[in-house]
Amino acid sequence: MSIVNKSFVSIDDLNKKEIETIFQRAKVFKKLNSQKKSFKSACFANTDQELNALLFFAEPSTRTRISFEIACNKLGIHPVLFLDIHSSSIAKGESLDETLSTLKCLQPSVVILRYKGSQFKFDDSVPVINAGFGSYEHPTQALIDAFTIEEAKGSVKCKKVLILGDVLHSRVSNSNLKLLKRLGAEVAFCSPTSLIPKDPLWSDVTCFSNLNYSLEWADVIMCLRIQEERHGMSIGLSLAEYRDNYHLGWDQLRRIKSDCIILHPGPCIIGVEMSREAFTDKRSLIKNQVTNGLFIRSAVLSLILDFKWLA
Ligand code: CP
Repeated sequence: MSIVNKSFVSIDDLNKKEIETIFQRAKVFKKLNSQKKSFKSACFANTDQELNALLFFAEPSTRTRISFEIACNKLGIHPVLFLDIHSSSIAKGESLDETLSTLKCLQPSVVILRYKGSQFKFDDSVPVINAGFGSYEHPTQALIDAFTIEEAKGSVKCKKVLILGDVLHSRVSNSNLKLLKRLGAEVAFCSPTSLIPKDPLWSDVTCFSNLNYSLEWADVIMCLRIQEERHGMSIGLSLAEYRDNYHLGWDQLRRIKSDCIILHPGPCIIGVEMSREAFTDKRSLIKNQVTNGLFIRSAVLSLILDFKWLA
């Protein structure tokens, strides 16, 4: 498995060396950024052709889209945005899949795709990066999360990672489970019964029914947003009941380890999955995750587009 000149749809597409390479390159990009130096001093496109990236976002996004767009700019890749599907020929009846297939005929160097489902049929004509597919996977977010854990804890290996909340509908948690297990972490989750994942991927993962025990166990707590747009809150409990039982607030902050870190892939709905105190607690690295998105996504783009690496 390799993602060089290929699509990156799942964590399964990455080999071990590529995970290491992405983290090494992200570290270099982060350092260059802090020194206000160009990313092009670390790598260059190995082609005379101008590179462009089609950002095709069929679902809303803030972090993923903007970080990919800035990453493209920093690497000298021209970003072409396809965001408002209602002003496209989709409004005249063209299907989403047909639109994507049409746009591929314009031969972008890479497609960065946020998509509703996972059933998209991939041809090898243009590499596609999964920027969040429905409830399937969000592999670049998992890379960001593991990178952020490694920065804070030195290593992901043997760390106890608790995923808290709407695991059933979360593409982030599917990618994280795969990646964190490969990196040697111990993963568990705590969710309301109706939001327990059914995919066999999760069958041997510890499920805590008691929030307090799970919080005391964890070295890393990864909170997830309740994905109301996917289930319309027909999950057997109200938002208020969810908050009463699974919220990270003042009482819960006192239970977690002093060196535990708090993550959230975003967007975070303050007051539902966590309080303002939890969001801004000194153990919260949620804003670091957003910043790291730029470096991880730059590293992924440089790898897929086979940039020559100088650093
Ligand atoms: N984590 C994430 O995908 O955030 P956005 O929806 O804002 O891109």
